[in-house]
Amino acid sequence: MYRTHTCGQLRIEDAGKSVCLSGWVQKVRKLGAMTFVDLRDRYGITQLVVEEHAPDEVRETVARLGREFVIQAKGTVVERASKNGKIPTGDVEIRVEELTVLSESEVPPFTIEDQTDGGDEIRMRYRYLDLRRPCVRRNLELRHRMAQLVRNYLSERGFIEVETPVLIKSTPEGARDFVVPSRMNRGQFYALPQSPQTFKQLLMVSGFDRYFQIVKCFRDEDLRADRQPEFTQIDCEMSFVEQEDVQEVFEGMIRHLFKEVRGVEIPPMERMTWKEAMERYGCDKPDLRFGMRINELTDIAKGKGFGVFDGADYIGAICAPGCAGYTRKQLDELTEFVKRSQIGAKGLVYVKWNEDGTMKSSVDKFYGETDLRAWMERCGGQAGDLLLILVGPKMKTLPQLCELRLEMGNRLGLRDKNVFKALWVVDFPLLEWDEETQRFYAMHHPFTAPKPEDIPLMDTDPGRVRANAYDMVINGVEVGGGSIRIHDSALQSKMFDCLGFTHEAAQAQFGFLMGAFKYGAPPHGGIAFGFDRLASMFAGLDSIRDVIAFPKNNSGRDVMIDSPSEISREQLDELGIELQKTEKK
Ligand code: AMO
Repeated sequence: MYRTHTCGQLRIEDAGKSVCLSGWVQKVRKLGAMTFVDLRDRYGITQLVVEEHAPDEVRETVARLGREFVIQAKGTVVERASKNGKIPTGDVEIRVEELTVLSESEVPPFTIEDQTDGGDEIRMRYRYLDLRRPCVRRNLELRHRMAQLVRNYLSERGFIEVETPVLIKSTPEGARDFVVPSRMNRGQFYALPQSPQTFKQLLMVSGFDRYFQIVKCFRDEDLRADRQPEFTQIDCEMSFVEQEDVQEVFEGMIRHLFKEVRGVEIPPMERMTWKEAMERYGCDKPDLRFGMRINELTDIAKGKGFGVFDGADYIGAICAPGCAGYTRKQLDELTEFVKRSQIGAKGLVYVKWNEDGTMKSSVDKFYGETDLRAWMERCGGQAGDLLLILVGPKMKTLPQLCELRLEMGNRLGLRDKNVFKALWVVDFPLLEWDEETQRFYAMHHPFTAPKPEDIPLMDTDPGRVRANAYDMVINGVEVGGGSIRIHDSALQSKMFDCLGFTHEAAQAQFGFLMGAFKYGAPPHGGIAFGFDRLASMFAGLDSIRDVIAFPKNNSGRDVMIDSPSEISREQLDELGIELQKTEKK
């Protein structure tokens, strides 16, 4: 037997017991003739003590221990002379009578404690050591707990988990696919699923009625803190439902998670239209932990002889409370912030409403106090506040104001990680126009149903059609999104028309789905949550990498196993792949 107890288990009541523990050496300390060893496993740390009178073999073994050796210690639980109130096992220690080295360790490349000296890169390379650190381990434990809660919640409500294939077919819509060459079908490729979307819809046609799956999805897109090339969805679909039915079940699931995991009661979620979200927050995922909403000034700020404003399509402002005292330097910083290439504003106009009642702006030459006061009033400002104004094409300026608002929220400490503000964003446009390719794309995906009352617009003004689609947004993060689906093959064909697909192309790509719809498709709809995003939010972390056991870095590489990697000439030949010569850098 390797152990009678774990390293997190023993308490003062166990004093006097003979026990056997196994684990990793965290630290060895010599104090006179005594040696103390902190022994660690998944469950905690227990102190071992090798006393002066311990058997010779024990003293010899303890003398050669190094960090991260795996050892087994047998001995007696005794009360500690100096107790450690910081750990649950801190009242006791094990007086060691037998000590065995089970496995030696080289000196680890960084200290395996919460406060480590290892940088990001090295910890990723030795991720298996990083995962020994309690703070990292806890994230995976939380993730496991959330997965269990989700499975139970949905199973109790009649959902069944069905696995869908991982080798599927490439489709041109959505993000880029990862593809896998087929050896048996030379020159042909599978694609890894960006989501199980079409399969879950087919399961509805099969009559499964309530499906879910905690499932890996793959997207070849640019990476950010909240994006990984492979990530996990809680993917769900239901039959005979309308939008409200889906929202009710899944709002319930998220509230249940908050209650069980964080101990907080989330109030019923507000519904905000996409249009309102864009106009008041500049984006489709508003962070409602703070106000500072966007206000349009176009009608009152134009036509006063200031060229930049007069020629603008849109003028919008946010009012930063209590920031009238901002210095030149702080205002310059904000101007630099909005001019960064990622944001792309041309400049920033400000108005200060000083505490003494006077107004000062960067456009004093063109606007008098009455104008400035009217702008302030529009934005609900008061003495002591600072107005920050951006101008330009409306749909470019709103996202810039969104970034500026979030930046001010950060600066003013209004984005507390322990406050949760959840909402549904609804009534998304069905289609999005792309200037470059001069065609419409599905904003969500091509299977999303238009609002019935907007269907006639599909022929006349497709850009104005609203979808029966909804996103759940928490603290400015899109944690989930879904829609009611088209379940009628004629309407699905019309949708493909709007997307510029020929009948043949639609048949070639999605004929299997439209074919299935001819055999009795129930009305259905669903949603998918980004499980990594939910887990990192519940853990209070900024990046989803920290809740993924073996994540990829920002270049999509796994630096531990060193992938992606080249494959042999033989493998390439077998697959019939000829690599184009690329210049070595
Ligand atoms: P969507 O594309 O909105 O919908 O994805 C659902 C949720 O998955 C998460 N997510 C990601 N998380 C980490 N890394 C990524 N690269 C990534 N991409 C998306 C987000 C998002 O809200 N089939 C539809 C769902 C449906 O209609 O039922 C779908 O995949 O949290």
